[in-house]
Amino acid sequence: MSTYLVTGAAGFIGYHLTRRLLDRGVHVVGFDNLNDYYSVSLKQDRLAQLLSHDHFTMVEADLADQSAVDGVFAKHDFDRVVHLAAQAGVRYSLENPRAYAQSNLVGFVNILEACRHAQTPHLTYASSSSVYGGGTQMPFATDARVDHPYSLYAATKKSNELMAHSYSHLYGLPTTGLRFFTVYGPWGRPDMALFLFTKAILEGRPIDVFNGGKMRRDFTYIDDIVEGVDRTSQQIAKPDPNFDPGNPNPATSAAPYQLYNIGNNEPVELGHFIEVIEDALGIKAQKNLLPMQPGDVPATYADINALESAVGFRPATSIEVGVKKFVDWYRDYYAI
Ligand SMILES: NC(=O)c1ccc[n+]([C@@H]2O[C@H](COP(=O)([O-])OP(=O)(O)OC[C@H]3O[C@@H](n4cnc5c(N)ncnc54)[C@H](O)[C@@H]3O)[C@@H](O)[C@H]2O)c1
Repeated sequence: MSTYLVTGAAGFIGYHLTRRLLDRGVHVVGFDNLNDYYSVSLKQDRLAQLLSHDHFTMVEADLADQSAVDGVFAKHDFDRVVHLAAQAGVRYSLENPRAYAQSNLVGFVNILEACRHAQTPHLTYASSSSVYGGGTQMPFATDARVDHPYSLYAATKKSNELMAHSYSHLYGLPTTGLRFFTVYGPWGRPDMALFLFTKAILEGRPIDVFNGGKMRRDFTYIDDIVEGVDRTSQQIAKPDPNFDPGNPNPATSAAPYQLYNIGNNEPVELGHFIEVIEDALGIKAQKNLLPMQPGDVPATYADINALESAVGFRPATSIEVGVKKFVDWYRDYYAI
């Protein structure tokens, strides 16, 4: 039986990934500090489901606490580490930048050091589509350079990719970074548009629509993200035999380092996304049209050819199917 460490196991993506791993017979150690960035009871309810499984062990601790991270690695011999815990959210990084430094930078060094000393066979970690900043060359491809983040959140995610590369180069630690594109689905995050809109519409309140609803997002359904994470984490990153330092491909390396996008490859205008939510709820939204928010990017669109050729998978869930599943979960969970 293989053993995985999943950091952020009480979080949206970590919870779903852990369920998937448990279902296929993996022993999972979860690591999460259950912080109050959003509803702690939602995190506890996700965890309660995982804890009912015999092959799940939970460690409640902070990534920035080196001894806590080292302690987990001293106790278990991990076949894979999937590092999803982070301070997420673009807008909150303008309000509380230091939370990002602690969790995403200090915490990431602790994970890298622990993997290095434990000689972990493969570290897979969450990056983000936000690293593409205001790039206009669509779709966004991992072999394009990305050096102009629009938010500190994005800057910490790009930093994680750079830090991972240094460990792949120095210590031969195989690392794979996954740039997720706007993930949504049941048990989703209360700070994200789908959750905020559904809640407000059901409560008869207006929704805040930034950039007049003209933003485009490559909304990606949670099951597609989990499929991509599970497949890529099983496939250990290898050095690229064609890597050319004179013309370096940012997505690979002479070291065992790899980057992939996981996105739906089908950007949707926010205005249309709202129509799909209205249809799923059977209620029209009242809209508060607002300007673009600082730190936000106008569009995201994932090139997923590299993902498909590496692991034979492309996300394909339509927003009509995915939004309906979220709305059904929301009504059920909150008994509405
Ligand atoms: N959801 C998305 O659309 C999206 C898009 C791009 C990237 N990502 C990245 O994917 C990963 C998972 O995102 P999510 O949507 O599941 O977010 P989430 O906030 O639901 O999950 C993150 C979990 O990490 C935990 N955590 C945060 N800081 C911690 C710390 N210092 N120590 C221990 N635990 C800590 C939180 O308590 C939370 O449960 C994150 O790295 C995020 O940046 C998410």
